[in-house]
Amino acid sequence: MPLVTTTEMFKKAYEGGYAIGAFNVNNMEIVQGITEAAKEENAPLILQVSSGARKYAKHVYLMKLVEAAIEDTGLPIALHLDHGADFEICKSCIDGGFTSVMIDGSSRPFTENIEVTKKVVEYAHDKGVVVEGELGQLAGVEDDVNVENHSYTDPDQVQEFVEKTGVDSLAIAIGTSHGAYKFKPGQKPVLRFDILEEVEKRLPGFPIVLHGASSVIPELVEKINKYGGAMPDAIGIPEEMLREAAKSAVCKINIDSDLRLAMTASVREHFALHPADFDPRQYLSPAREAIKEMVKRKLVNVLGASGKA
Ligand code: G3H
Ligand code: 13P
Ligand code: ZN
Repeated sequence: MPLVTTTEMFKKAYEGGYAIGAFNVNNMEIVQGITEAAKEENAPLILQVSSGARKYAKHVYLMKLVEAAIEDTGLPIALHLDHGADFEICKSCIDGGFTSVMIDGSSRPFTENIEVTKKVVEYAHDKGVVVEGELGQLAGVEDDVNVENHSYTDPDQVQEFVEKTGVDSLAIAIGTSHGAYKFKPGQKPVLRFDILEEVEKRLPGFPIVLHGASSVIPELVEKINKYGGAMPDAIGIPEEMLREAAKSAVCKINIDSDLRLAMTASVREHFALHPADFDPRQYLSPAREAIKEMVKRKLVNVLGASGKA
């Protein structure tokens, strides 16, 4: 099976009340951990690559790893550019074989966001590639951009944005954020389901995307801290809130930090228990297994996508 786009996936997810997991990949162990989990759960999958991941691993290596995963698992997998900052990086990923790109114009003025998104859509659609746009800004750290406060999506803008750009899906800001520090200690986690409902009303049947949707599982943070880490205040979005969102128009849920935490906790534990080890396979095998367990957990607790491939 070749790489697929997200069109069919989103249609089924919208109708079926579940969401597709979009997991960030940076190396072989992460690709293998995610795809082995999806294979065991028979789940559709989006693998996404940030510009930082492209710099780290190189486009061609990530492309070949994902092709290998498709050959190995036979799963429907879409390969997506995460947070494309401009037309050039989107074009480069489209030309380089990705089946989906995000043009993230969310920090630009509305009309400029429309302009750049439309330009990417025209280029992408011509080549059979789908496009995700974004309206509203998430708080948190992503690449080297650090946004202090959310700019929630204005539901009154979404219809005009989708009509004028022709995008295939839309990321919105309802209180999720990037990274491992989504709420302050003592702060009650809140997602603006009222905004999501208003967006749904204005865009019936249209796939919505949630970024910054890691849950920062407390036991993992405890493990990291127990084995020499220093992340006392890491807090994420409760899984049951995300499960609720996945039943609505939200068809794609982005998860990266939870994979990083799973891998880091595993490596820290390994070296604490086996300080003499120095063969990377000794610590990367359990780390890959930890990624796999985390993805399975997400498929069941958050996405509801098991058995939907
Ligand atoms: O939204 C950002 C993703 O977590 C990717 O992070 O840019 O550090 O690869 P990165
Ligand atoms: P997290 O940092 O919550 O995992 O979000 C990842 C993301 O949105 C990637 O685009
Ligand atoms: Zn994101």
